[in-house]
Formats: sequence, C-alpha cells, structure tokens
Amino acid sequence: MRSWRFVSVLARRGGASRLADANPMTRPIIIDCDPGQDDAIALLLALSSPDELDVLGITTVAGNVPLKLTQRNARLITELAERGGVPVHAGCARPLVRDLVTAEEVHGKTGIDGVDIREPRVPLQDRHAVDFIVDTLLGAEDASVTLVPIGPLTNIAMAMIKEPTILGKIHEIVLMGGAMREGGNTSASAEFNILVDPHAAHVVFDCGRPITAMGLDVTHQVLATPQRIEAIRTLGNPVADATCAMLTFFSRFDSEKYGTAGAPLHDPCTIAYLLEPGLFEGRLCNIAVEIHSELTMGHTAVDMWDVSARRKNATWVHAVNADRFYALLAERLGRYG
Ligand code: RIB
Ligand code: CA
Repeated sequence: MRSWRFVSVLARRGGASRLADANPMTRPIIIDCDPGQDDAIALLLALSSPDELDVLGITTVAGNVPLKLTQRNARLITELAERGGVPVHAGCARPLVRDLVTAEEVHGKTGIDGVDIREPRVPLQDRHAVDFIVDTLLGAEDASVTLVPIGPLTNIAMAMIKEPTILGKIHEIVLMGGAMREGGNTSASAEFNILVDPHAAHVVFDCGRPITAMGLDVTHQVLATPQRIEAIRTLGNPVADATCAMLTFFSRFDSEKYGTAGAPLHDPCTIAYLLEPGLFEGRLCNIAVEIHSELTMGHTAVDMWDVSARRKNATWVHAVNADRFYALLAERLGRYG
C-alpha cells in the first residue's frame, strides 16, 4: 500500500507564495490537460477528492482544440466544481516540432460540447504553464510531486528541457497516452496525445522518472455506456448533470467509430489510478516512441516481453475493473451534491 510522506510544497499561486502543508496522506499533483470532455471529467474526479489529491495547479496545452479554448474550458470546469482557487495556467500553443492537429470532430468546436459555454469568472494565471511547472517543482521536496499529463506532452517536455533539475522533484508521471494491442485512434498505429507531439513524448518517456502509462489498451475497456451514464444522472447534482451531457456528446463519435455501446473514457483512468490503484493491472517494460517514420509516427512500441533489452522505463497499464471504475466515478461525482 503506497504511503505518502508528509509533504510541504512551496507553491506560488497567482504570484503570491504560500507554504502548502499537505496532510500526510495527500498526494500533490499537477494536471496538464487539453479539455476535451474526458479531460473535464478527469478534472472533476480529481477536484472531488481533496483529502487524497492536492491539485497544486492545472496547466493547459493545445490538443483536442486550440490553447485559447483548452485554457478557457479548464477554468470553466474549476468553476463548475466550485474549486476556483485552483490556478489554471496556459501553456504551449503548438507541439515542439510538428504542426498542431486538433480533434473537433470528437469534442465539438468548443472542446467540451455538452456544457453551457460562457466566459469564466475564474482568471487565467499570468505565468506560463511551463514556468508554473518548473517553479512549483523547484519549490517542492525531492520526489514529491506527481505529474498527470492527459493531453499532448508539450508542456511537460518543455519544462524538462528548460530546467532538467526538476526531474528529481517528480514522484511519478501518470499519463494518458499510447496504444499497442488496440492500434491507433488517430493513425493506424498512434494514439492522439502521442501523435500530436511525438517529440515531446520521446523526451518524457526518456526522462528516467517513474512513469505509469494509460494507453488505449486499457482506456478502451472503460466504455461510457447508456447504463453507466444513467447511473451518473441519478446523482441529481449540477456536476453529474454536466458530466452526463458531456458524455452523451462525447460518446456519439467513438460509439459509431468502434461500434461500441459507449465511448472510451480515457483521461479519468489516470485519476482513478491515483485514487484506487488496485483497479488496474500493469507491467513494467520499455516504451519507446517513433519519431522518424511518417507512417508510424507517434507509435508507442511497448516491449511487453522484454525482447529489446531496452531500459524498462514505464508501467504499461493493460487491464482495469471497469465496473468498479464507474462505481468510483459515480461515488465521487455524488460528493458534489
Ligand atoms: O486519445 C485520447 C486522448 O486524446 C485523450 O486524452 C483525449 O482527451 C485526447 O486528448
Ligand atoms: Ca486529453
């Protein structure tokens, strides 16, 4: 059973500095995201559990939709969760090398179609997301902060390149990205987050810190079926209602694409892992990212049987108890009531 050391984190939020004395069992995390309905639900799940997860900040990146929308959407979600005190920072507007590819066909023009869109009251922080990540990690104890990237890895890679000494401050990187047995969802062999910025993914997978990777091999097992959406709807609070509206919109594209009864709920798998790791099964192995071949660009070569003899740099999660995943999600969304 993972036990958390007492963590004191110097976290500058909005320019002011405060010494955040987390409780001994609270895990300090930074969520890097590109909302996107599934990102939004991951944020709602994380923000529902302040006794277990101390969300030091939310950083946003271009991905599902352009950065000006992902940062707005993240701020809207913190308002919906009534956690407007959690700072939201805007990060990189494009990948390290390649042109930005977005996914409006999946998420709608707003990025979180299903939610009433308005200009958030919560301000966007002035500091760039990369600087927030660097500053927060430099002020933290060694190996104390968990990074949770659930979009393209541009911000995370830029922070590591800008200030390599932050690596020693990272406890774990729990990311959504990659595909092996499921095949790609954006090209024949690549998953969206990795394909959008394969060079950033290469930097992150090569960083030497513990990585837990939630790829399509596991996220395709957590389908948002009508029955599971209905179970959330019965919670009868504004957050659950918004979640159902987002899931209903989000499910239409993938249900048709995969011929399944619901869409895979990708990003919340990372947060569910932090809250209840026993829901998942994984295997420590080497994961390498293709950055040369245009045909297989962004492919995650997961060496399940250790045939490459390359360093085992990540835990590839390949199984989940889907019913318990949705029971956890419903229980936590019910807290917003
Ligand atoms: O391939 C799924 C991933 O791409 C998810 O993170 C989704 O939000 C999109 O960013
Ligand atoms: Ca995402």
